[in-house]
Amino acid sequence: MGLHLVGGISSAGRAVPPLDGRPLLIDRAEGPWLWDRDGRRYVDTALGFGATILGHGPEPVIDATTAAIRSGSMPAFAHAGEEAAASALAALTAPLTSVVFTSTGSEAVHLAARIARVATGRGLVAKMAAGYDGWYDDVTLGQAGSAEALMRANSRPRRGGTLLLRYNDFEDVERLFAESDDIAAVLIEPMLANAGCVPAAPGYLAHVAAVARRHGALVISDEVLMGFRLRAGLTAPAEGVEPDLATVGKAIGSGFAVAAVVGRPDVMRAAEGAGVRAGTYSGNPVATAAVLATLAELKAADYPALLARGDRLRAAIVAAFAAIGRSVSTSGFGTVFTLWFADRAPTTYAEAAAIADAELTRRWHLALRRRGALVMPFPFGRLYLSFSHDEPVCAELASVVAASAGDLDGA
Ligand SMILES: Cc1ncc(COP(=O)(O)O)c(C=O)c1O
Repeated sequence: MGLHLVGGISSAGRAVPPLDGRPLLIDRAEGPWLWDRDGRRYVDTALGFGATILGHGPEPVIDATTAAIRSGSMPAFAHAGEEAAASALAALTAPLTSVVFTSTGSEAVHLAARIARVATGRGLVAKMAAGYDGWYDDVTLGQAGSAEALMRANSRPRRGGTLLLRYNDFEDVERLFAESDDIAAVLIEPMLANAGCVPAAPGYLAHVAAVARRHGALVISDEVLMGFRLRAGLTAPAEGVEPDLATVGKAIGSGFAVAAVVGRPDVMRAAEGAGVRAGTYSGNPVATAAVLATLAELKAADYPALLARGDRLRAAIVAAFAAIGRSVSTSGFGTVFTLWFADRAPTTYAEAAAIADAELTRRWHLALRRRGALVMPFPFGRLYLSFSHDEPVCAELASVVAASAGDLDGA
């Protein structure tokens, strides 16, 4: 491993254990496949942390971004691609039709929270305990695996302007608003994906939104991960929530660095205030070309077929382990799900934390890697499917899982 790159990685999420003393270094990616520097090919399920929903390197996106690079990737001044991409995005996120592009999801969440504060004149934002809304200071509070995520203390955890809310606890949101009248927004996620795809209880998110509204707070749906993962649009409306603001990223750009805040036009006008937003790379021509080309593909994509394929894969994984006498379960959706080494998937973060098995997950990663598939090596990790994961690819993945199921004790 190199001597200069701290820890050998640029983002903590990239940490994977060595296999036979060798670190994993990826050389090339295409469709559902990754190749390492030794030329070994893997079925990929990490998919750029969910960013490459069309698969790696989709031709239309490569063509559009290459053309954008050739025309000048950094003009500093406004360019036509920005409005074109914003209008394509807005058409799919209506009624949230006002758009600001950023380069990362963390930035988008940061901006959405700032817009909510400016628009309401209030100072606090509540986020879900064990939720992940990016790596900026305040919102890292209560990430899955942290002590605060379990909310065991008597007082509500707070860092700077961020408070925690207990996920899937209908009463806690009432308590939250009884405790403070300075809450600008509640930051929800359609599913606690980064805590191992813990689904929202039926009616929970709609309840949170109703209570927030009753107290004059806004609802921000953080869909950096879940946006465009179940349909070509936002996921919150399927959970009965019409947010005031939403953040999207990952899937909208096919792996290029782009994210966005989309919002109700009246609320987003607050973003026009001096100093609310900036960003050297925000809305650059390569990013907006990637968005435009990706959204055109996603609009025509067959989500129900991919979700069904993913659900069949989940069932095949459970069956492969059952065949060797080990109970496992899965949570989430066909396009993003978590495997649990337990006979029942969690419905709360406390349950997820109790059944998370770091050692077994690490061994599962190594066993699959030996046989040609890559899964995230840590508990709360997710398997993603892209539109390039067709039947034969899913069948290959299922057979790698079946072949390696018995290796877990020795991997
Ligand atoms: C729900 C959610 N919000 C925000 C982020 C942060 O996005 P980025 O990594 O692009 O900064 C992520 C990234 O995983 C995410 O899953």
